[in-house]
Amino acid sequence: MTPSFVRSKLSNLPLSQQLASQTRPASIGLVLSQVRTVLDEYGGVSDEEEGRAESEILLTHLLEFGTTELFASLRAPFPAERRDDLLNALARRIRHEPMRYITGSCPFYGRDFNVDARVFIPRPETEQLIDQALAWAEETHAETLRVADIGTGSGVIAITLARELTLPEVHAVDISHDALEVASFNADRLAGLVGVTFHEGDLATPLEGHFDILVANLPYVKLQTLEDAETELAHEPRGALDGGVTGMDVIERLIPMLADVMNPYRSLVLLEIDPPLAAPTISLVEKHLPGASVSILSDFAGLARVAEIQIGG
Ligand SMILES: C[S@@+](CC[C@H](N)C(=O)[O-])C[C@H]1O[C@@H](n2cnc3c(N)ncnc32)[C@H](O)[C@@H]1O
Repeated sequence: MTPSFVRSKLSNLPLSQQLASQTRPASIGLVLSQVRTVLDEYGGVSDEEEGRAESEILLTHLLEFGTTELFASLRAPFPAERRDDLLNALARRIRHEPMRYITGSCPFYGRDFNVDARVFIPRPETEQLIDQALAWAEETHAETLRVADIGTGSGVIAITLARELTLPEVHAVDISHDALEVASFNADRLAGLVGVTFHEGDLATPLEGHFDILVANLPYVKLQTLEDAETELAHEPRGALDGGVTGMDVIERLIPMLADVMNPYRSLVLLEIDPPLAAPTISLVEKHLPGASVSILSDFAGLARVAEIQIGG
């Protein structure tokens, strides 16, 4: 149901009137720029760049176009049969539902993953974990690697590593049954021949044997930040975000489990973190994995984002 205030907001927009015109159908180019205006004004986008990106994501999705096709079609009329879908999508976005849930897909490392409100929306900075894992794998020259993804969500990390590594054995864990349904669906479409074995459970407890690579993007948002979040963040599953009072609740339970599941001779752990969690993460690694080396890597915005732990070697 679209609340009446959203309906009336939308029906008063020039965009709605242009779309309704029988005599002069709006062009795709005009619709694109009007959608951008609506998103800038009401859609909760943080800046012009985000408004531009989201309007292109929405129109390529609705028209089933690639970006090149979209820009080649700016003068063509916007198809009348897509009008209601466009207005419904805008109504959802005005209520701060994230664009990736509206389109139902999110790109990650060059592949499109299905996402919905059962899973966290993959973020671009998480791709750095993949780059690091692949670089390490190349250096080790191992014939086959056992890989674990803890807190798999939509399955992006596990599925990407299953595709990018040479013949790995990939296991993925999540505590959320709903998330595992989405991840399995994505794996069926995208994981290829190697596949991924999914486990429902708490952190590393469902895993058996030793792993060469363990990657985890676990919840690390501070409780206070979550409680203040009224917008897009509030639409994502709380269990994917909630890191407790300090943000460390989940990560600090995983670190003591690592000694039992990692290959003691040579292995790699990559943990995505929030920048203020760098120091407590280092302290916990030093306490629970005394022989390991830990370094903190920055993301493309220069913020401390990944704890890289090298064991043995
Ligand atoms: C921030 S999301 C990351 C999802 C995905 N890895 C990504 O990067 O897009 C965190 C995920 O960890 C899962 N999770 C939270 N607590 C967990 C626990 N104790 N054991 C296993 N998974 C957990 C959540 O259900 C959620 O899917």
